[in-house]
Amino acid sequence: MPLVQIVYHSRNRLAPASGRPQLDMLRAILASSRRNNAETGLTGFLLFDRTWFFQVVEGERRAVLATYERIGKDPRHADVTLLALRDIPARTFPSWSMGAAMLNLDQREIYLRHGISGALDPTQVTASTVVALAVDLQGQEIEQQRSLQRLAG
Ligand SMILES: Cc1cc2nc3c(=O)[nH]c(=O)nc-3n(C[C@H](O)[C@H](O)[C@H](O)COP(=O)(O)O)c2cc1C
Repeated sequence: MPLVQIVYHSRNRLAPASGRPQLDMLRAILASSRRNNAETGLTGFLLFDRTWFFQVVEGERRAVLATYERIGKDPRHADVTLLALRDIPARTFPSWSMGAAMLNLDQREIYLRHGISGALDPTQVTASTVVALAVDLQGQEIEQQRSLQRLAG
C-alpha cells in the first residue's frame, strides 16, 4: 500500500503555565495519539517546546489525511501549517506510533548539525530539516530510555 508522510508545524496553545501541567497535557496528547495511531497504522514523531509543535505523521494516505484533519481542529494548538505532504518509499519512524522529544537548548549540538543556531523558527525551517532533526532526537530518546531502564533495573 502506498505510503505518505506529512510534516506540519503549529503554535502550542497548551496553558502557558510552566512545567508539570504542560507536560501532563502533552502526555495526554501522546497517549491518545499512540492509541489511535496504533489502530490506524500510523507512525511518526512530535517535537515540541513551549511555543511550537512540529510533527511528522506517516502511513496509508487516507489514514494520514483523516488524522491530520482531526489534529487540525484540536484547540490545544493553532496556526496548523502544512510544510510537506509527500509519497515515501518506506517509513522514517517505523517503531514509533508517535515518538516525542522536547526541544531545548541542551540539544544545541544536534541543532547546529542541521544549521539551526538559536530557537527553532517555523518560518525558517523546512520539512526535511524537521524530519532530520526528529531522526537525531529519536536516537537521543532511545539512549535516554535505555539509561532509565538501566537505572530502574
Ligand atoms: C500537537 C498535536 C498532535 C497530535 N497528534 C495526534 C496523532 O498523531 N494522532 C491522533 O490520533 N491524534 C493526535 N492528536 C490529538 C487529536 O487532535 C485528537 O484530540 C485525538 O485524535 C482525538 O482522539 P481521542 O478521542 O481518541 O482522544 C494530536 C493533537 C495535538 C495538539
